Amino acid sequence: LRTQVGIIGAGPAGLVLAHALGRAGVDCLVLERHSRARVEARARAGLLEERTVAHLRRHGLAGRLLAEGTRHGWCEFLCAGHRLRMDYAALGGAEHWVYPQHWLVRDLIAALETAGRPPRFGVPVLAVEEPHRIRCDGLELDCEYVIGCDGARGVSRRALPAALRREVTRRYPYDWVAVLAEVARPVGGVLYALHERGFAGMMPRTPAIGRFYLQCAAGDTPADWPGPRVRAELALRLPLAEVGLGALHEVRILRMHSRITRPFRHGRLFLAGDAAHVLTPSGAKGMNLAIADAADLADSLLHGGLDGYARRRLAAVRRAQDFSERLLRLLHRPPDEALPDLRLLTAPGPHATAFAREFTGTSEETDDAHWRT
Ligand code: APR
Repeated sequence: LRTQVGIIGAGPAGLVLAHALGRAGVDCLVLERHSRARVEARARAGLLEERTVAHLRRHGLAGRLLAEGTRHGWCEFLCAGHRLRMDYAALGGAEHWVYPQHWLVRDLIAALETAGRPPRFGVPVLAVEEPHRIRCDGLELDCEYVIGCDGARGVSRRALPAALRREVTRRYPYDWVAVLAEVARPVGGVLYALHERGFAGMMPRTPAIGRFYLQCAAGDTPADWPGPRVRAELALRLPLAEVGLGALHEVRILRMHSRITRPFRHGRLFLAGDAAHVLTPSGAKGMNLAIADAADLADSLLHGGLDGYARRRLAAVRRAQDFSERLLRLLHRPPDEALPDLRLLTAPGPHATAFAREFTGTSEETDDAHWRT
């Protein structure tokens, strides 16, 4: 089998790229290891930056997002009995869009299907082989370009020659319990709670579902966190009465780490999204970076500029990682120690503005002073 651009993985990165290339008349094929049902049911991220939505809109991919997504422009820090609110949209940032990643994935797959170019599901890629051949069980795909959009556990980054490959992994000394739960009233904005028992967070997803996080010991497993323990610990760290916590739908443990694998390009193999960079969820950057990678790649493949892809995207990834990392460190500090810095951060001024712009991705062209942690 032959195609111009072989894309591995039907996540946000692979699907956005396939859509842009297909629309421009480039022959491309997305190979996805899982079934369509599984991919469309996998709840992940949910905060989209304005520039991400602008890109989707330009490609006619934001119809349902604009109709069903919600917007918010503030977050709150709960710390040592205080609630410190930050109106980041008003402080120089922009509003986020709240729309679950798997809903966006569903919309993107539907758009490709309508265009007559659906991904191939249930096709695990076994390896990327020279010269630019994707090998699956019983299928070989020859491509002019191979784009690895196969996420954190994919195979494409292994195709980088060992002598060139640089992988930098940071493991944090804690993990997070990640819970999807029903709520009686929507979570209005992101809530970060710094607590003596450990960090806890509450993030909007849909009007009826919230995403909750709890810091736990590194290496804990879901068996350590049965429902009653999760509920009790959430109640100690977060103001749950505000949302009315209902049934818990999914309890997972996130191994808190980040990883950047370079180079993002080797010859005609390119890495995009989580395949190239995994960040912690603290700054809500993963899905936005994945779509930005895809947008850059599509533009470069169609109009030139491939040589600068790795450099441009590495700079953006480093910036996002720096933001996520500083926020993560702040969220895990003892509340009493962190309070003065949180006060400074949330009061209108240069620190708040820098945070607001980094958080919402509106600072890309500037070199703002960093906010302090
Ligand atoms: N063959 C085919 N498909 C594969 C293979 C393989 N060997 N390995 C992985 N995949 C598929 C996965 O099943 C998944 O559907 O690649 C896809 C990768 O999608 P994502 O993990 O969503 O990655 P990406 O598109 O880069 O989006 C990043 O996902 O994890 C979140 O926080 C992250 O929001 C960010 C977003």
